[in-house]
Amino acid sequence: MTLKAAAALSGRYFGAALDPDLFDEQPYVQLAREQFSAVTPENAMKWAVVEPKRGVFDWHAADKLVAFAKANDQKIRGHNLIWHEQLPDWLTSGTFTPTALRQLMIDHVTLETGRYRGAIYAWDVVNEPFADDGAWRPSIWFQAMGPDYVEIALHAAHAADPGAKLYINDYNVESAGPKMRALHDLVASLKRKAAPLDGVGFESHFVAGKAPDDMRGVMQKFADLGVDVAVTELDLRMKLPPDAKSLDAQAADYAKVIGACVNVKRCVGVSTWGVTDAHSWIPSFFSGYGAALPFDEKYKPKPAFFAAIEALTRGAPR
Ligand code: XIL
Repeated sequence: MTLKAAAALSGRYFGAALDPDLFDEQPYVQLAREQFSAVTPENAMKWAVVEPKRGVFDWHAADKLVAFAKANDQKIRGHNLIWHEQLPDWLTSGTFTPTALRQLMIDHVTLETGRYRGAIYAWDVVNEPFADDGAWRPSIWFQAMGPDYVEIALHAAHAADPGAKLYINDYNVESAGPKMRALHDLVASLKRKAAPLDGVGFESHFVAGKAPDDMRGVMQKFADLGVDVAVTELDLRMKLPPDAKSLDAQAADYAKVIGACVNVKRCVGVSTWGVTDAHSWIPSFFSGYGAALPFDEKYKPKPAFFAAIEALTRGAPR
């Protein structure tokens, strides 16, 4: 059984973030093809990558990812359009008026979604708009436009690719708290205004053994607003080196998070943030931690993989 086959039993996808630079590694490519029915570019579609100098575009990696997904009949989660990180230097160090920033944002969203019009299943249009206390993150976008930037970006994306599902994606919103409530309020207000918002992504970067217990309930609360929900960047890190106990705790949490999704009708799928422990962002961002994915450094399935299959197989139909 593969992750994608197990997810398909309940009409869901199972995805992973991919790095096109690794497409010449055979075992990586094989797992990426066999196990996943959706892919997310881990970095390839971010603004700093696609427009490193103003007006100078590099779609090489993004195109490679899209071609790979097409060849393997995989959905693509476009990631991401508007964020406060991985912005090109020309943008962050430039001095732009609020009006100019608004236009730059609209032009970027229009260009990127338009380029891949029809090819993208879902776009993370706005990424990580809130701080952990539920306040708006003071990004250049917020500073220029206030909260309206979210709606403006959504409209631009919808105009350029009306068929793509448009998402807001964030972390630390998987459990009840101020950040979750801020996002819930935003989604409720956007739906009231009939803004083109289709879904909410729950990143789900957790520590093994500490995945939240109330995730199913939280995702259901968002679904009740009339949006799809998805687990978009799942990984469960542990202190290195891994031992049997932490691998088991990790497996239990993979089952818990996937179980939360399969018990919410509008949860469309789960994606992990990477394929194997050989290539994961965790060790370089959380010092001393790693081993966060269902496949180990040798590309072998871990207890987390088998727990994921089991949780998916128990999945309620969508
Ligand atoms: C991470 C990538 O995995 C790293 O390679 C990169 O250096 C930084 O960004 N939330 C997100 C993702 O939405 O885009 C981030 O990806 C991880 C956290």
